[in-house]
Amino acid sequence: MKNNETYLEIIGGRSLHGRVCMHGAKNAVLPLIAAGILTKETVTIKDCPYISDVDVMIALIKSLGADVTRDGRNVSVRSRATHASVKDALCKDMRSSMFMLGALVATLKEVELDYPGGCRIGARPLDIHLDGLRRMGATIEYTDTGVKCAAKELHGANIVMKYPSVGATENLLMCATLAKGETTLVNCAREPEIVSLASCLRAMGARITGDGTSVMHISGVDELGGCEFTPIGDRIVAATLVCAANICGGEVEIDGVGRNMLGAVCDAVESKYCKISGDGNSMRISSFGKPKAVNVTTAPYPLFPTDVQPQIFACSLFSDGVSTIKETVFENRFAHAKEFIKLGADCKVESNVAYVQGARSKTKAIKLSACDMTASDLRGGAGLILAALGINGKSRVYGTEFIDRGYESVEDMFCSLGGNVIRKTVR
Ligand code: UD1
Repeated sequence: MKNNETYLEIIGGRSLHGRVCMHGAKNAVLPLIAAGILTKETVTIKDCPYISDVDVMIALIKSLGADVTRDGRNVSVRSRATHASVKDALCKDMRSSMFMLGALVATLKEVELDYPGGCRIGARPLDIHLDGLRRMGATIEYTDTGVKCAAKELHGANIVMKYPSVGATENLLMCATLAKGETTLVNCAREPEIVSLASCLRAMGARITGDGTSVMHISGVDELGGCEFTPIGDRIVAATLVCAANICGGEVEIDGVGRNMLGAVCDAVESKYCKISGDGNSMRISSFGKPKAVNVTTAPYPLFPTDVQPQIFACSLFSDGVSTIKETVFENRFAHAKEFIKLGADCKVESNVAYVQGARSKTKAIKLSACDMTASDLRGGAGLILAALGINGKSRVYGTEFIDRGYESVEDMFCSLGGNVIRKTVR
């Protein structure tokens, strides 16, 4: 390992007890901050988490000439962007820049962004975003390094998305709020974060109906105004805690996310050894630390979230049977499997399906032992932490820069529940 590299040292085998409060969801906050540049008035997004993806988003918007400030957990965007070229270093995180596409075309009538190609979990093309913008009157030009998108005037359109892409739904929604006339978006993503974005846009004066369903209608308005908005809590962080409690045992209360947002995850986890109660905006997990084997397939909301696939995979390592985990959203999202094998896990990946024989199986002796693992993506990293928490002994998880993209002080969160997770630096 490299000097000065940080890692998490995890001494597993402890049960988890206590209460954790969820802050604004990463996947809600990022497009909400982008929505701030749709108006010259001030948009304040409250309860933003301290994660590096939010820092990158703020830096990106500043680089476009907009005035953005962070005051504690409040992020305020006070102006529109002045130029629309998203290039170089910040564009390496293409995913953040992609959230600016709709907002920039809507306000500046042009945008140019570098397209750095695939990311670690899949190719992540932009065709659905670009197809929608084209239908609203934009022209798309592919350059050597990326894409240029321009429009003299954006008009409403009927847009049928070939897949309910979360990012494309958000981009096209933002763009349509300022386009002339009526837009209908068909086959929209229905994630709660889309509803959060639509609610904020409505508070800014947008006219939107149908969010949370697969068909949305947007009547364009001439201008949007400012607002203060509190996003939904982070259901993926909450699901990570549900899986952690499922593995480690204990009693964990989560404030700020209700089980209605985690339906498919709760179904996959609940058993006579793991009960989940609560309603409204909080939940409680009571677990004996004996996860059941699962058969899950990831798919758009409300089905099982791809962002919880590595965490449920970690649960399956400790189960008493064979689990099947099918990934249908991203084509390359099993990097954690080879790290789990280092622990002694009996798992194999064939195409987009992982088969896992749990360590409590009676038919086969499987011993999981603490070891060093390296995260190569955000949620995969969360899966590695959960596996380490479930095994007696000292593991190390490298690749904290990925985990920090979406978990605020992950070590503090688990320590507050009685886990033993310490951030250290290689000397
Ligand atoms: C968002 C989430 C991410 C989550 C994902 C799926 C944010 C910041 N990120 O990512 O955490 O894992 O939803 O729930 O909200 N696709 C195309 N063409 C496109 C767009 C997408 O083929 O133009 C494909 C992607 O390659 C992928 C699938 O659609 O295979 C889903 O992607 P999408 O829903 O767009 O995910 P993101 O918005 O990038």
